[in-house]
Amino acid sequence: MNILLIGATGGIGSALTKSLSKNHNLFIGSRNNENLSTLKNSISTVNKLDSHIVDVCKFESINTFLDEGYNSLGSINCIINCSGSLLLKPAHLTSEEEIESIFRTNVFSCFQLLKGGFKFLKDSGGSFIFFSSAASKIGLKNHEAIASAKGAVSSLVLSAASTYANYNIRINAIAPGLVDTNMTKRITSNKPSLEFSKKLHVLNRIGNGDNFIPIVNSLIDERSDWITGQTLFVDGGLSNLK
Ligand SMILES: NC(=O)c1ccc[n+]([C@@H]2O[C@H](COP(=O)([O-])OP(=O)(O)OC[C@H]3O[C@@H](n4cnc5c(N)ncnc54)[C@H](OP(=O)(O)O)[C@@H]3O)[C@@H](O)[C@H]2O)c1
Repeated sequence: MNILLIGATGGIGSALTKSLSKNHNLFIGSRNNENLSTLKNSISTVNKLDSHIVDVCKFESINTFLDEGYNSLGSINCIINCSGSLLLKPAHLTSEEEIESIFRTNVFSCFQLLKGGFKFLKDSGGSFIFFSSAASKIGLKNHEAIASAKGAVSSLVLSAASTYANYNIRINAIAPGLVDTNMTKRITSNKPSLEFSKKLHVLNRIGNGDNFIPIVNSLIDERSDWITGQTLFVDGGLSNLK
């Protein structure tokens, strides 16, 4: 399978890149070329593993990334967007620039990947995997910006999955709870807030990048060709259990 994966150098993205590269051809991206090279050099695979920088806040940059990915792999079966950003603030303290940046990184990125990626998948079918969040389902304090953005990702998945079903293009999202990555370092490096966060998850632990490998492998499996329009929660129970 030929897979484009954005946000490959992040905590979840790098775990997925390392795992998926064992059985699939990958074209990976993020904003930092050095980090992409370091990641590629840490992986030994007989499959294709190529990269290109991309800024998901800019539609043109996404289009270039898609073109480069297609040129490198020859075809595209799946597009995975692991890029994202986090802002923890109450709404009244959130600036226009901050909310715009959160929506650009988390929502507009998925929108443009669909918009630009459609032409590469329309003849053969394929799938998109986006990242939502448990915060889109359960009300967490100071999550207004990210909760509304990730809620938009899940709603985008619903409508797009319906629109593109006729092309055999499946569109799903994965919604993590708190995962130990660079994005959440501020929370996890502070012992009291880490302990508090663990307790919000009924399994009493936070997640790690590897927790997302089985669900992604399952979603790209050809036998999963009846799963579309879903937001699948991989969240230690955060979104629905006490
Ligand atoms: N960690 C959690 O607790 C958690 C919870 C709920 C949802 N999620 C979601 O899960 C996904 C993966 O999160 P993560 O924890 O793995 O995050 P992470 O470790 O911070 O990684 C984020 C990745 O996205 C890339 N990125 C950020 N902004 C970008 C931009 N403008 N253009 C291109 N690439 C960009 C980063 O690389 P560069 O900075 O080098 O570009 C990095 O590769 C995200 O969508 C996140 O919102 C995470």
